[in-house]
Formats: sequence, C-alpha cells, structure tokens
Amino acid sequence: MLSLSSHFSRVSTFLLYLLLCFFNNLVIISAETAEFDFGTLTLSSMKLLGDAHLNNGSVRLTRDLAVPNSGAGRVLYSKPIRFLQTGTRSPASFSTFFSFSVTNLNPSSIGGGLAFVISPDDETLGNAGGFLGLVGDNGVGLGFVAVEFDTLMDVEFTDINGNHVGLDLNSMVSPQVGDLGAVDIDLKSGNLVNAWIEYNGSSRVFNISVSYSNLKPKVPFLSFPLDLDQYINDFMYVGFSGSTQGSTEIHSIEWWSFSSSFESSNSGSDSGPASVPPPPTTSLMNPTANSVKSPPPSLAPTGSDSNTSAQQKSTKSSSCHNQLCKQGPGAVAGVVTASAFGLAIFAEHSYNGVEIV
Ligand SMILES: *[C@@H]1O[C@H](CO)[C@@H](O)[C@H](O)[C@H]1NC(C)=O
Ligand SMILES: *[C@@H]1O[C@H](CO)[C@@H](O)[C@H](O)[C@H]1NC(C)=O
Ligand SMILES: *[C@@H]1O[C@H](CO)[C@@H](O)[C@H](O)[C@H]1NC(C)=O
Ligand SMILES: *[C@@H]1O[C@H](CO)[C@@H](O)[C@H](O)[C@H]1NC(C)=O
Repeated sequence: MLSLSSHFSRVSTFLLYLLLCFFNNLVIISAETAEFDFGTLTLSSMKLLGDAHLNNGSVRLTRDLAVPNSGAGRVLYSKPIRFLQTGTRSPASFSTFFSFSVTNLNPSSIGGGLAFVISPDDETLGNAGGFLGLVGDNGVGLGFVAVEFDTLMDVEFTDINGNHVGLDLNSMVSPQVGDLGAVDIDLKSGNLVNAWIEYNGSSRVFNISVSYSNLKPKVPFLSFPLDLDQYINDFMYVGFSGSTQGSTEIHSIEWWSFSSSFESSNSGSDSGPASVPPPPTTSLMNPTANSVKSPPPSLAPTGSDSNTSAQQKSTKSSSCHNQLCKQGPGAVAGVVTASAFGLAIFAEHSYNGVEIV
C-alpha cells in the first residue's frame, strides 16, 4: 500500500514534469521572434526576385532600363517569419524601419513605386507598371499586406495622386491612403525618405510614419485599426517590391531593420509579469544608427537644398561615435561599414521562455 502510493506520486511527478515541458515548449514556440537589420543581412539571408539587385551596399528593386520598358523586382528576407501566434492565433507585433530613395534618370518618364510587403510566399512576383510587383494581371494577390509608396496616379486603382502612401490588403486599391505632399515629401525628389511601420498585435493599431529626417515624427502619418490576422498566414515573408511604369525610375533601399514579437503567452501558469522579454522594437529602431551608413542626400526636414551635406556630416559624427549609436539602455546598434552586405552573420533571436518554470 505504502509502496503503491509512493509509486503513484513518482508517476504524478513525472506527469507534472511532462506537463511543464509541454508548457515550456508552448512558450518557446509562441515567443518566436525575428530581428534583423541591414548590418546583419548577408546575401544568403535575402532572396532577390525579378529585377532586384544589389548596388553598392543597397538593394535596387528595378533596373535602369531604357524608357519604354517596365520592370519589377522584389527582395525578401529569406526566412519566413511567424505572424500568427501558436495557440492564441493572435497576430505578431512588428516594427520595421527603412530608408529608400526614388531617383528618376529621365524626369519626363515617371511612374511606378515601391512597397514594404508581407508576402505569403517567396517566389511570386507580380506585374510591373502600376502593380508594383505585388499582384498579377487579375489584380488579386495571393494574400498579402503592403504599404505602398506610389509615384504615379493610377486611375484604375483610384489613386489620389502620384505621391502617396497607401495600405494594400491583397489589392492595389488602398483602403487607407495619405498624400505625402501634406508633409512636404516628394517621393520622386531623389532624397532619402525614412519610413517606420509599426503594428501592435494586441491593440491592433497599425502606424505608418514618413520623414526626410531620421527622427521618427511624434505623430504617425497614418494610424488606423487593422485586424491583421485576417490577411496573414502563420508564416509570412517580409521585404520590398517595386516596379517601373515605362520609366527609368530607380527604387533603392538604403537601410532596413525589422523586428517582430508576440505578447507573452498567457497559456502557461501565471508566473508573474513579463515572462518573455519585451518586444525588441526600439533597440533596432535606433534612428541615428541609420545615418552611419551612406549619408542621406537630405536629412533636413525643411527640404533645404544643396548645402546640407556638410552639416549632416557634423551632426552625424557627433551623435554616432565610432559608428556606434547609443540610445537608452541596451539599445546599441552598431552599423558596420558602408557596404553592409557580406559581413556579419545573421542572427535570429528566439527567446526561450524559461521563466515560466
Ligand atoms: C501608434 O500611434 C499612436 C498615436 O501616436 C500611439 O499611441 C501608438 O503607441 C502607436 N502604436 C505603435 C504600435 O507604434
Ligand atoms: C500594445 O498594446 C497593448 C494594449 O493596448 C499595450 O499594453 C502595449 O504596451 C502595446 N505595446 C507596444 C509595444 O506599444
Ligand atoms: C559606394 O558607396 C560608398 C559609400 O556609401 C561611396 O563612397 C561610393 O562613392 C559609392 N560608389 C559608387 C560607385 O556609387
Ligand atoms: C554651398 O553654398 C555656397 C554659397 O552659399 C556655394 O558657394 C557652394 O557651392 C555650396 N556648396 C555646395 C556643395 O553646394
């Protein structure tokens, strides 16, 4: 009798152990996050489709073709990223920052644009022209979410003008749109444009900020509620897509960082607050770090002309010493050299939820 009960307790201890392992695993899975930036991307951690190619440390989505041609290209981070949490099915929070420029070698031929895209696969490239490489002829994608920076007014997509930002949910007709002229940004100016896209998977608010300055504006350019989970799969690819529209527009991505996270799992026991590290959003979003790379053609929010580059240099070297920019505890972003590719080893962080035990 006695031995039986002790045996029973051993079994139940074992069961408890199994249970703990199970929960622990749950947390490990649900805490999957992704984090990378241009400083850590290598050629093998990117997938280039269509006309996308590397050019002196930046990614160009389109080729510099003679005028009547149109082309499309896409660059994606090569690994799929979890966008829906295991179990809860709630969408990931993510934050991405990128700097890009649109230059026109032939000002009389304009058109096209680029988009940050969350794509269901890493193989499909949509049409050139007004489609930005996002969708095919039928105008319907395979299930994507994109933020477009559109340089031509396409009447068929009810575009507001040739200088706007729009949210695209599996269609080129944007349910959310903003006129960049309202914040004195001209996409086709050739100036470096900085963009921040942030989504909180709990509050379900989607924010888009745009500025010539590398400081994120206090108030987002566009902010709206979005149930992202309606448009995404468990795993998605992130990157950029762009196209020309019978033009010689160059779409160049000069800097990119991305991070995603999930709220700490509530499937486990209530083991105190914050069992998973907070979303690493700010650490990689250090805006000053971006300036270490190639000096943006224009940092001045006022769009002042020619003589800014000398001033930029001095501001930069003071805010970023030794190519390391500090901003708050732990928020160090070291940007390696001008040619960001081919250097560092890609690192994907997945936090183990050991705290739950
Ligand atoms: C979006 O912008 C609003 C308004 O500034 C802000 O309160 C909120 O924290 C932002 N959300 C994210 C995910 O950045
Ligand atoms: C996301 O929204 C939740 C709920 O509104 C809030 O508690 C949390 O702080 C937000 N997270 C971020 C990173 O803004
Ligand atoms: C390549 O980039 C570096 C630094 O950004 C710059 O100094 C150099 O002039 C560029 N080369 C070309 C061919 O554009
Ligand atoms: C800066 O401005 C001065 C006059 O204000 C001009 O002489 C000089 O050429 C400008 N430098 C550049 C790089 O445009």
